[in-house]
Formats: sequence, C-alpha cells, structure tokens
Amino acid sequence: MTDSTDLMRDKTEVRERQYADPGKLSARVDLHARYSTNPQPVQDWEFGLVDLTGVRRALDAGCGTGNFLVPLARRLAAQGGSVEALDLAEGTLGEARARVAAEGLPVTCRIGDVEALPFEDAAFDLVLANYMLYHVPNLEGAIAELRRVLRPGGTLLAATNGAAHMADLWDLADYACQDAGVPEALRAELRTHARSYSRLSFSLENGADWLGRYFSEVRLERRPGDLRVTEAESIVAYLASMWALDAVVSAAAPPEGAAALRSRILAGFRAHIADRIAADGAVRIRIDTGAFIAR
Ligand SMILES: C[S@@+](CC[C@H](N)C(=O)[O-])C[C@H]1O[C@@H](n2cnc3c(N)ncnc32)[C@H](O)[C@@H]1O
Repeated sequence: MTDSTDLMRDKTEVRERQYADPGKLSARVDLHARYSTNPQPVQDWEFGLVDLTGVRRALDAGCGTGNFLVPLARRLAAQGGSVEALDLAEGTLGEARARVAAEGLPVTCRIGDVEALPFEDAAFDLVLANYMLYHVPNLEGAIAELRRVLRPGGTLLAATNGAAHMADLWDLADYACQDAGVPEALRAELRTHARSYSRLSFSLENGADWLGRYFSEVRLERRPGDLRVTEAESIVAYLASMWALDAVVSAAAPPEGAAALRSRILAGFRAHIADRIAADGAVRIRIDTGAFIAR
C-alpha cells in the first residue's frame, strides 16, 4: 500500500487529486477558523511574529486558496507593497486568483514549483511557505530556493504541524470505525496511516534542522489553542478531506466497494461525534502547530 506521507509528496497527486479543486483544503481551513479556542486569527498571529513595516515585495510559495495571501496583500497594499503568489495546483490557485481580483489587491498569481522558483536572486523582503514544505519531494532544494530569492536579512515564515496535531481526530475515527463494524485489520491500517501522517517530512520537530542548513537564525513559535468543535458536520468534512482515509479505503478494496466503505466510516464517525457533542457540549481536539521564523 502506498504510504500516505509518500502520496503527500507526489506532485501528480498534489496537483490532480488533493488540490484539484479547493474543497479539501477549504474544509480543513474552515474547521480551524470556526472552532479554534484561540480568538486571534492564525494570519494575525503569524504576521505578528515579524515586523512587516519595511516589507515592499513578498512571495507566498504554495499559497493555496489565499488563506494567508489575502490578509498579507491587504497589509502590504496599505504601505505600497505587492505580493507574488505561486502554487503547483490551479485548483487552489484559481480560488486565490478570484479572491485577490475581487478586492483589487496588488498580487500576481502564477503556477510554479517551489523547487525551481521563477524569480531572481534576492527579489523579496519576506517569503511565506506555510503548510506546504511537507509536500515537497526535494525539501533541501526547496529551502535553498526560498533562501536564494530572499534578500540578505529578509525573513522566511514557514508554518507547519507537529506530531501531536489532530491526534484526537484519529482516535475518534478509530472508535467510530469500531462502532460501524469496520474490521480490526482495516482499523489497524487506519491507525498506521494516521501515525505516518503525523510524521511529516517538514514538521515542528525537524523543521529547525532543515532550515538551519540555509538560514543562520531559526526560531520556532508554537501557536497556542485547541479546537472545541460544537457541531458534527465540519469535523466530518475534515476527516473526509484526509489523505490517510483515502489511502485506507482504496487499499481495502472491499467487496461492498470503496465508496460504500468510505460512506459507512464517515456515517459512523458523524454519529459518534454527534453523541459526544450531545453528552459534553463539544469535542476537544488538540492542535500542535506553529511557525518557523528564519533569516
Ligand atoms: C496545505 S496547502 C497550504 C496552502 C496555504 N499556504 C495555507 O497555508 O493556507 C498546500 C499548498 O501547497 C501547494 N504545493 C504543494 N507542493 C508544491 C510545490 N512543489 N510548489 C508549489 N506549491 C506546492 C499545494 O498545491 C497546496 O495549494
């Protein structure tokens, strides 16, 4: 069976499946935005880690649907700056394009690969590479590229997750699968995949070592807060968006068909979450996320 962490670094998979349309990424962004116990939006938190006042030209590498791009562009527009936005997948970039166009923001969007950035040396004061370096097969090459396009003294912000991120979700998924009668062998596969999913190639645990190869100063800030989820549908959509679930369902090739198994797992999960919310008022999910600041 293909490991879900390998799928995460497969460019065809990234472009043509996971980010072929904005749906999966939006489901994940939506859950965090709605149910974080931290009242400060993640973008304000991250941008608060650096001084943006002198930034004129910024790059958002792997900008996705524009979750960080749009608020950054709003701030830089107010001080005469601009942003280059780049992503491997038109599915997500298309949404970012529409969002910046709707607000008339000073952003140029282009399809591209962080492993070979189409920009000259020292072109940017600030570069974002948020929640994307774990998708890159040649991680060292990508970090070298991010360093190359930053001016001396410029800053890289690279957000990622740690090993404990959303672990509670996988425990809940396991209970739900058990209740739904999913065989133990299949549940064991899901647990293995969930664990491998938490071992990101670029994580809070190993990110400083990677970045330290090209940046002289690297600092990690962890974002405080958890999720307190008070309705089932958003968290069901989150599980449905996960690579690990797809990997297990397709590997199982059950007689009932992959789509039927997927629906059965999600229905069991939905019922289990609804019961927990009815009993306790909310389901709490631990978050393990943060950002590296590198110069
Ligand atoms: C989890 S999303 C994060 C999006 C955005 N940075 C955010 O934090 O909301 C990862 C994004 O990285 C993009 N991506 C993956 N590999 C890439 C690569 N080699 N070069 C550029 N973008 C890539 C994906 O297409 C996807 O839009």
